[in-house]
Amino acid sequence: MQDFLEWATPGSNEWRMARRLSPERLPRHIAVIMDGNGRWAKRRLLPRAAGHRAGVRPVREIIEACCRLDIEALTLYAFSVENWKRPKAEIRTLWALLRQYLRQELPDLKANNVRFQTIGRVEALPREVCDDIDNAIVETAANLGMTLTIALNYGGRTEIVDAVNDLLRRARQLGEPRQIDEHEFSDTLSTSSIGDPDLLIRTSGEFRLSNFLLWQIAYSEIWVTDRLWPDFRTTDLLEALSSYQQRNRRFGGLPDEPAARQIKSERAEAKLVGVNE
Ligand code: FPP
Repeated sequence: MQDFLEWATPGSNEWRMARRLSPERLPRHIAVIMDGNGRWAKRRLLPRAAGHRAGVRPVREIIEACCRLDIEALTLYAFSVENWKRPKAEIRTLWALLRQYLRQELPDLKANNVRFQTIGRVEALPREVCDDIDNAIVETAANLGMTLTIALNYGGRTEIVDAVNDLLRRARQLGEPRQIDEHEFSDTLSTSSIGDPDLLIRTSGEFRLSNFLLWQIAYSEIWVTDRLWPDFRTTDLLEALSSYQQRNRRFGGLPDEPAARQIKSERAEAKLVGVNE
């Protein structure tokens, strides 16, 4: 957070908005459904590819802002298992943009101590895309700063089914099926090293999860903006963070009740109804 305040121009919108945030209550992990590239292009009578191209700027901007804010993990949804239904030319544009991004930004990712990884069935992507991805993963593997995860050929349901099959395979090998708990299941998912998102941002005003991180999002705070992804800026991210800090995350518990006070009141209640402690 300090880094962000030193980097932002004093008196600018970003600086003023960031100063109003509590550094100790920032989300640990932010996930983003980047949506609206096609509509952005359509409004300008441009081909859809132009919308995707314009979508690279906010990718850069948000990664830099999150690094400077000391966010631990940022996960971007770039290509779903369902996106193969799109025209081949559009899919080719997306791979070309990803390759270009990785090649151009790798020095900056390294300089910012970012660890790059992907989730999804990446092996189904064209060979040359996989090569650039592998290179970025290897080159940033030792970095201890923010983990940047790009979801590629990703589907939440596919991920869950893959995890179940993995567990079944392991149980068959051991010859003894046994019960597992939620933690063990989470550890089987591709997000095991980054954990669940605290905040999910979706652009372009759609109130859908679109098969993104279905298991992991159980208790995430969701923030939706009408802004189309190519128009998304650092000020929008800061607005999302401000909204997040006003939420009361209860995880099924009671509002603002510190654990100690809660236990005390449970005991008092139990006494009232004559329940033995
Ligand atoms: C959704 O908009 C966006 C995508 C499917 C692709 C996201 C890709 C980028 C932001 C560009 C490059 C990415 C990286 C990581 C360098 P849409 O096409 O579904 O928009 P629409 O709903 O308006 O049609």
